[in-house]
Amino acid sequence: MKHFKAIAAMSLNRVIGADGKIPWHLPEDFKWFKKMTMGNIVVMGRKTFQGMGHPLPNRKNLVLTKHPQRLIKSMPEIFGQYHEWRGGKYLKRPYQFHFSKLGEIQETEIFIFNSLDRLEPEEFPNDIFICGGAQIYERALPRCSDLYLTVIKREVEGDTFFPPFEKKFEMVEQIHENMDYKILHYRRQSLLKDES
Ligand SMILES: NC(=O)c1ccc[n+]([C@@H]2O[C@H](COP(=O)([O-])OP(=O)(O)OC[C@H]3O[C@@H](n4cnc5c(N)ncnc54)[C@H](OP(=O)(O)O)[C@@H]3O)[C@@H](O)[C@H]2O)c1
Repeated sequence: MKHFKAIAAMSLNRVIGADGKIPWHLPEDFKWFKKMTMGNIVVMGRKTFQGMGHPLPNRKNLVLTKHPQRLIKSMPEIFGQYHEWRGGKYLKRPYQFHFSKLGEIQETEIFIFNSLDRLEPEEFPNDIFICGGAQIYERALPRCSDLYLTVIKREVEGDTFFPPFEKKFEMVEQIHENMDYKILHYRRQSLLKDES
């Protein structure tokens, strides 16, 4: 059975966000995020998408919102442009829109879903990375096989926190460590039991 994977960065006091943004700037960690997600599917909540202000290039961006039309109207600089590219094709399933940039090599696409439950990893050939924010991590972690977590080695002020996960996941690998942060790979405990 195919699962989601989650990728996140949190501080020692579990902060992941402040005022709709990520409250640190670590280019090396962003490179890691890019390497892991490039060519794959990234799933994020509406607030995270609005905080970024644009889709992640060369990836399928799946944005979750209960109010797709409101999101589209709130970001004319993105969706206006996407409408021009393709005419904002409306797909069969309700509240699922698909915009893509045609005529260019880069495969940047945005899908808008109104429910996480509609997303089935089996339906997609690539890995699906759950990319936040807190609401989406909380909902999706029970369906994730792996968690790639960057731990920033300091306390940071913020208003959004990574949910508890330690009881269900076990650290299997420390991928990287430097003075500022470490990257840890966790795997769902129930899957580890199956694998042994
Ligand atoms: N450090 C990191 O790794 C990291 C990663 C990502 C984000 N962040 C930070 O996290 C913060 C945002 O997190 P957040 O928890 O406030 O917001 P969020 O999870 O990004 O987005 C929440 C929104 O997603 C939609 N949503 C949630 N559950 C849904 C469901 N089951 N079905 C359909 N739509 C659903 C709702 O949109 P509607 O209200 O439109 O219905 C909800 O308001 C920002 O500061 C961001 O920078 C940090």
